[in-house]
Amino acid sequence: MSTLNTVPAPDEVGRLYDRLTAMDTEGQGGSLHLGYWDLGALDVPLVEAADRLTDMMAERLRLSPGQRVLDVGCGLGQPAARIAAAEDVHVTGVSISREQVKRATELAEKADFASRLEFQHGDAMRLPFADASFDAVVAIESIFHMPDREQVLAEIARVLKPGGRITLTDFFARGPIPDDQKEAVERCLRDFIMTLADVDDYLPMLRRAGLRVVELWDISEHSVGPTFAQMASVDNHQLDPVFDAEEKKFTPADLVDVDEFGSLLLTAQKPG
Ligand SMILES: C[S@@+](CC[C@H](N)C(=O)[O-])C[C@H]1O[C@@H](n2cnc3c(N)ncnc32)[C@H](O)[C@@H]1O
Repeated sequence: MSTLNTVPAPDEVGRLYDRLTAMDTEGQGGSLHLGYWDLGALDVPLVEAADRLTDMMAERLRLSPGQRVLDVGCGLGQPAARIAAAEDVHVTGVSISREQVKRATELAEKADFASRLEFQHGDAMRLPFADASFDAVVAIESIFHMPDREQVLAEIARVLKPGGRITLTDFFARGPIPDDQKEAVERCLRDFIMTLADVDDYLPMLRRAGLRVVELWDISEHSVGPTFAQMASVDNHQLDPVFDAEEKKFTPADLVDVDEFGSLLLTAQKPG
């Protein structure tokens, strides 16, 4: 069960990311995700912290050269390119946004290792790949846009080879959202078409999907808190043109003090 939610529609999410891509922003150096910071080093720039999160997730996949990795919700392709370069693997990225797929493909064409990167349009609810076709799967901040987390996990389990690992990050409610912060959280969820997970759902969902948990870690203090704090200090209104709504729009500053808005890092494995 999720909280504060209306179920996201993949086509609508695709159109949102098409509009964001047309704005030609680079996100965090091409990554569209939070950073990861050590608690004593919160002044590290967001771009570096975002790459660190990608690297931490890639490490958890225990990759070997030549393996095939699927990036579910691949954004502009930067995390896939980083993983392909660092780990000497082949990465296929899938996104519900056609504009992102175009941008990611342009990025791949410029890379020295172009033959090890490919991007295609697709919906994670019905992954366009054969059973057992990947050695590992990464999904960085994408599952919260999808209508049914359990179906996505089952699809990931289907395309994974036995013994293969999945690592993902997600947003979740660390507790009931205080009444005076509900409006800000609802605005964020509505503007970005996403839902907060209930962390208690993850173990049963993984079990039903045929995956075994390796690690389930609340990274909020290393991640979502410092990211919103850095974003708020830079530009609160950069994304305003993307949203049609007449009413007040989401800005990162709204969530800086919302401790219940959490992020988690999950690693699981398909039994071998
Ligand atoms: C916050 S962005 C993260 C992008 C990328 N993982 C990164 O870290 O830079 C969310 C991504 O999820 C993708 N996405 C959302 N819903 C999807 C769906 N149903 N199927 C495939 N991709 C989806 C979006 O198109 C976008 O690429």
